[in-house]
Amino acid sequence: MRPATSTVESLTLQIDGKDISCRSGETILQVARDNNIDIPTLCFLEGLTVWGGCRLCMVEIAGSPKLHAACATTCAEGMVVSTASPRLKEYRKMIVEMLFAERNHVCAVCVSNGHCELQNMAVKLEIDHVRFPYRFPHLEVDNSHDAMRLDQNRCILCVRCVRVCGEIEGAHTKDVKGRGVLAAIIHDLDQPWGESETCTACGKCVNVCPTGALTHRGTAVGEMTKKAQFLPYLTLMREAKS
Ligand code: FES
Repeated sequence: MRPATSTVESLTLQIDGKDISCRSGETILQVARDNNIDIPTLCFLEGLTVWGGCRLCMVEIAGSPKLHAACATTCAEGMVVSTASPRLKEYRKMIVEMLFAERNHVCAVCVSNGHCELQNMAVKLEIDHVRFPYRFPHLEVDNSHDAMRLDQNRCILCVRCVRVCGEIEGAHTKDVKGRGVLAAIIHDLDQPWGESETCTACGKCVNVCPTGALTHRGTAVGEMTKKAQFLPYLTLMREAKS
């Protein structure tokens, strides 16, 4: 989302050695993408509020000892940003390996095989093995809905589904319970999805899910594809109306 024009100032900064102009209020991620500089993301999705949970978009800012999430950091005048240092590449690999180790992401038997953002990210970051012990938890698969299925084993807790359900559909059916490795997506007051009185069965949650955690029922291995392109359009239409 762009800031209101009345308060917009022009800024200049440097990203990966390139001098760039942008408007105040824009995030490093927005500006980088507008300038064809790729920063990996998983929880970010244009059209939803920023969550800042996956930490894949971390960048270095000169003069700051800590890393900053590009999706949640606004640009400042004179900022010098680095998006692809060896340190960042190593951190990103480690994060994705941890996601694979935390739950059960066995791509060969997944309905989203070949259409999965986590799988694509592993390929992009050249991950060929996981250095951490697999936890192999036995988590719930909620098959109670007529049209959709939630497999907690494949969830990376990006909460895109929670955000799209509340912010775009306005149903607020989905939420998160628990913390850390025990966190899980729930429906209403933690009841089976099929018994939810608020779910409109719109399917938006399925379409924004980056993995095989939320899928349509009846899909076989490799058949599930997602279509999240509706989001920027819906957001634009809402802004135009308000
Ligand atoms: Fe920025 Fe996930 S994309 S923290």
